[in-house]
Amino acid sequence: MSSEKDPQPTGRRLENEVAIITGGNGGIGEVAALLFGREGARVAVHYSGLGDTSAARAAEVVKRLENLGAEAISIRANVSNYSEVTSAVEEVVNKWGKLSLLSCFAGLQGNTASWNEDPLELSDDDLLSAIRVDFLGSYHFIKACKDHMKKGGYGKVVVISSSPTINGEEAGFRFILAKDLNRIAVKSLAPKLIRDYGVYLNVIAPGTVETTANKKNYNEKQWEELMKWVPLGRAGKPEEIARVALFLSSHDSDFVVGQTIVVDGGEVRL
Ligand SMILES: NC(=O)c1ccc[n+]([C@@H]2O[C@H](COP(=O)([O-])OP(=O)(O)OC[C@H]3O[C@@H](n4cnc5c(N)ncnc54)[C@H](OP(=O)(O)O)[C@@H]3O)[C@@H](O)[C@H]2O)c1
Repeated sequence: MSSEKDPQPTGRRLENEVAIITGGNGGIGEVAALLFGREGARVAVHYSGLGDTSAARAAEVVKRLENLGAEAISIRANVSNYSEVTSAVEEVVNKWGKLSLLSCFAGLQGNTASWNEDPLELSDDDLLSAIRVDFLGSYHFIKACKDHMKKGGYGKVVVISSSPTINGEEAGFRFILAKDLNRIAVKSLAPKLIRDYGVYLNVIAPGTVETTANKKNYNEKQWEELMKWVPLGRAGKPEEIARVALFLSSHDSDFVVGQTIVVDGGEVRL
């Protein structure tokens, strides 16, 4: 059985591409980084540098990519800070001379308390906390990458939303709001990006995915209850999200622009 850290290869669909994976040092981002490397991309594994283990986890992913035969570096940026993002992007372009792929997985980590907070009692700072990371983080990277992609004549960008944003969700309002902004922004930014820059922009809306960061918020009984809401009867695996990011980053999706791809086992049906 494959695990969170062990995506299976499917080919060399990203040969000659240069990819930045934000939040590439853990969870879904880590699995995507390894998958992109196996598919032939040179991979910049982004990390925040904010926690004690952040840099070391990125270095470990780089080592694993190199062991797979892929070229990789790690890049640090607090995604809420635009100048840190532009420096990180410049580092990639200086290293490899181009940039063609960007997948944004960085997101503010939640916990049970923040997921259960009263949506009508949040301070401005509470509300902005997730927006600064989940939405501004994606926006900063898109803004910093677009000219480099245009110069190379090709770019594919994937950002992350969340399927509960589509029908609304009372719990975790600050996260829902930030993730919904990503979904809404894609619809408005995608036409300009493809017309003026040759850059594809799409968004993945996952449901419940079995990552360490997510699962630690539930005990066994709560997790079982959660699974009852999923028609498929189980949580998604990180590689099941990473594979959709691969599709949206490869030439397999060359007629797909500005779309939300829901990947949630059937909970939300468009
Ligand atoms: N798991 C799910 O069920 C699920 C469902 C829907 C959507 N999503 C979204 O999918 C993405 C990945 O989820 P996951 O479960 O794999 O999460 P995760 O393991 O918690 O990964 C989150 C990543 O975001 C980075 N990050 C956080 N704050 C940052 C900041 N200020 N600047 C730069 N990077 C920052 C972290 O980097 P450091 O470790 O270096 O701080 C980490 O790599 C998230 O955006 C999440 O909201 C997840």
